Amino acid sequence: NQLEIAVESLSKGPYAHFMLKEIYEQSESVMNSMRGRLNFQTKSVMLGGLSEENVYTINSSRRILFISCGTSLNACLAVRPTFDELLNLPIAMENASDFLDRQPHVFRDDVCVFVSQSGETADTLRALEYCQKKGATLVGFTNTVGSSISRLTHFGSHLNCGVEVGVASTKAFTSQIVVMMLAVLRLSDDSRRLAPRRHEIMDALSRLSADVAECLRMVAPKVKALAQRLLDAKSVLVLGRGYQFASCLEAALKIKELTYVHTEGINSGELKHGPLALIDENIPVIIFCTKDAHIDRARSAIQQVRARKGKPIAIISERDEEVEAAADDIIQVPQTVDCLQALINIIPMQMLAYELAVLRGNNVDCPRNLAKSVTTQ
Ligand code: G6P
Repeated sequence: NQLEIAVESLSKGPYAHFMLKEIYEQSESVMNSMRGRLNFQTKSVMLGGLSEENVYTINSSRRILFISCGTSLNACLAVRPTFDELLNLPIAMENASDFLDRQPHVFRDDVCVFVSQSGETADTLRALEYCQKKGATLVGFTNTVGSSISRLTHFGSHLNCGVEVGVASTKAFTSQIVVMMLAVLRLSDDSRRLAPRRHEIMDALSRLSADVAECLRMVAPKVKALAQRLLDAKSVLVLGRGYQFASCLEAALKIKELTYVHTEGINSGELKHGPLALIDENIPVIIFCTKDAHIDRARSAIQQVRARKGKPIAIISERDEEVEAAADDIIQVPQTVDCLQALINIIPMQMLAYELAVLRGNNVDCPRNLAKSVTTQ
């Protein structure tokens, strides 16, 4: 069909699969999402969709509701702490299908944000129509110009990360984080109190492309070796908290989509409330221990896993004696500002999912039973 012909005409270049190409493209695609929008010198953000009037509409709203599915929902979760921090508004997260099942209250002065790579996901679109009937302001972040979501929302921004072919989303995820970070920087730009924090985030954004490139270089050999080790795993757990909770969910989603192995992302704050029962010497446990305000709690989680004979694999951003002593394996990534670390941390996890899929002989670009764009409910 036409779509297949269009996909075939896109080149994989030197890469064996589109997914691998898209993983490696991320040092450029995160830059493309910022181009013309973030001025590093003047420390200002301009997003076409966020005019003065639209910024006012959002900042004077009752609350912001993020509504989406799959990886796009995980991107919303990744930026949520920064929206909480920089805006004076309640922020809610909704899985589009659950939202539709519940039919919750939505008000005229709500801002409903629909995040979607394709702009065509049926559940997200139905949720948009529901919010439209309630008279809410509709905002879209999509990668596809002319898509239903970009046409039906009142305003928004495109991701500008280029066509994503692999069914398992990679570069769209990192660009969603970048574009939503730009949005929250724009929405908070009249606050003098927040200026130092906003500048810290902008400085990190200016180095992001280089950090992603360095991360790709640093983790590639380590991840290949780890994939060999995890090849026969029957189940994998991914732990983290705070800024890294979204990384856990997205890492687990990538690994399960690509490998067909049961993988669960768990907030390590919940460990004692059930998941600890799963820990033994056989189950691989990946733990995000990158440096931020929660590092002590990450250290405690790794100790708890170790105490149950688990063999944790730690993702670190700085050398850490305690974590290194407790972990069986370490993957080091570059350190960036806390609220962007999730974007860096996902890179070794995308690669791990990829390597495992190749080793298992799975269809990398089109995993079984999945579709790039789910247009039926
Ligand atoms: C499908 C894809 C996922 C994607 C989700 C949401 O499940 O397989 O990779 O994250 O849909 O898609 P969207 O286009 O709305 O971001």
